[in-house]
Amino acid sequence: MVLKSKIRPVELIDDKVFLIDQTILPYEYKKVEITNYKDMAVAIKDMIVRGAPAIGISGAHGLALAAKEFANVSSKDDFYRHLRDAADYLISQRPTAVNLEWAVNKLYDVALSLKDLEINEIVNNVFEYSKKLELEDIEININIGENGANIVPKGATILTHCNAGALATVGYGTALGVVRSAFDRDKTVQVFADETRPRQQGARLTTWELVEDGIPVTLITDGMSGYFMKKGMIDVVITGADRIAANGDSANKIGTYNLALVAKAHNVPFYIAAPLSTIDTNIKTGDEIIIEERNHEEVTHINGKTVCAEGVKVINPGFDVTPHELIAGIITEKGILRPDYINSIKNVKG
Ligand code: MRU
Repeated sequence: MVLKSKIRPVELIDDKVFLIDQTILPYEYKKVEITNYKDMAVAIKDMIVRGAPAIGISGAHGLALAAKEFANVSSKDDFYRHLRDAADYLISQRPTAVNLEWAVNKLYDVALSLKDLEINEIVNNVFEYSKKLELEDIEININIGENGANIVPKGATILTHCNAGALATVGYGTALGVVRSAFDRDKTVQVFADETRPRQQGARLTTWELVEDGIPVTLITDGMSGYFMKKGMIDVVITGADRIAANGDSANKIGTYNLALVAKAHNVPFYIAAPLSTIDTNIKTGDEIIIEERNHEEVTHINGKTVCAEGVKVINPGFDVTPHELIAGIITEKGILRPDYINSIKNVKG
């Protein structure tokens, strides 16, 4: 397996987790060391680590740290009770991305399945399994990238929103994984990156990681996509997703829905790139997806400075849901799912 991007935002080394601090990129590149589950919860909430797959793996590592912290409790019942509480606490930090609950619960189930072992052995196994999840994520993304590259036309300009790149995963990325694979095959491919207000993941993170890898990228603000599509300058739109319902409705960073509508109006295909773990077959439609409401200062301030009238009312949903009718395909590690999604999802997820 070749890791084509060196960016590793989440890395478990022995019993410590190292996170690239994504709140200060691109001004500063710094790794934060996390040694207990409560600090991991803060890192997820404050978006030191962000992006659905990255917070999933970070949550799992957080639970491994919790297991170690509880290793000296007096009974196994206590150990599992504390571990469940820690799992719920980690999951509660960000409600929209299903990958967080998926990975944390997976690790908790692994711990439960080992209940006949000594606690120390359970802890060691849990760390090992979490590391395995971390490494698998890179492989999954490379497969998403290779599958997705097949739908990228020669010399294409790909528009993306937010950051669904190496920084949002363990490495390589989902939407930007497709970009990386497409660029590997065709050096004339280029990216247009939406700024992505309010937190500017497109401007701060997507442009940073594409420039790091030498992939041509042009930054635009969120309102410009219609202008460029009308001029015929965008060939395909590819974004990530935080949770995909059983019918294909897909939650992603706020503004994605607008982009999908504009793409439809201009006959530009709109694709989602996401691992199968982002598909939540427990929910029938996107209406059931909980949308995280974030701090209003993200909207009222830029770089610590107010950009609006004092005391103005603000609403700040972090995500929106793109209805399945607007999605040309969902690019996964097992191939590209096409409408009708109820059946194509059932076929891969069971
Ligand atoms: O709030 P964020 O930065 O965690 O939101 C991230 C996104 O919306 C990404 O597009 C999504 O998680 C997919 S990442 C591969």
